[in-house]
Amino acid sequence: MARLERLICASGALADGGKGVRFRLRDSDEHENAFAVRWCGRVVSYVNRCPHAGTELDWQPGEFFEETGLYLACSTHGALFEPGSGRCVAGPCRGANLERLAIRERGGGIFLLNNNPPDGK
Ligand code: FES
Repeated sequence: MARLERLICASGALADGGKGVRFRLRDSDEHENAFAVRWCGRVVSYVNRCPHAGTELDWQPGEFFEETGLYLACSTHGALFEPGSGRCVAGPCRGANLERLAIRERGGGIFLLNNNPPDGK
């Protein structure tokens, strides 16, 4: 069975601890509702939806890390998330998790794998 993947961006688009890439989870979505960032050398990807009130996290498009670069931050109420696990470690949804997406980096590209739920849930 063929494994379908969707190219999200070139590997070089993601600097470690730097700006993330936003993308739509499905082609039919009106909004870009997922993102990928590089952290400790590897790429991680999550649905761009805070488990607290459901808003997107980035404070400016693609800006997901707080100022220390150690955590992903929600711009609405300031929840902090471990970049590698998506677990909230501070803020109103402490203990909750961002919804992680399966992603792979190979051949100079970053690909969303097809085993992600079609509706992002
Ligand atoms: S919506 Fe993210 S912390 Fe409230």
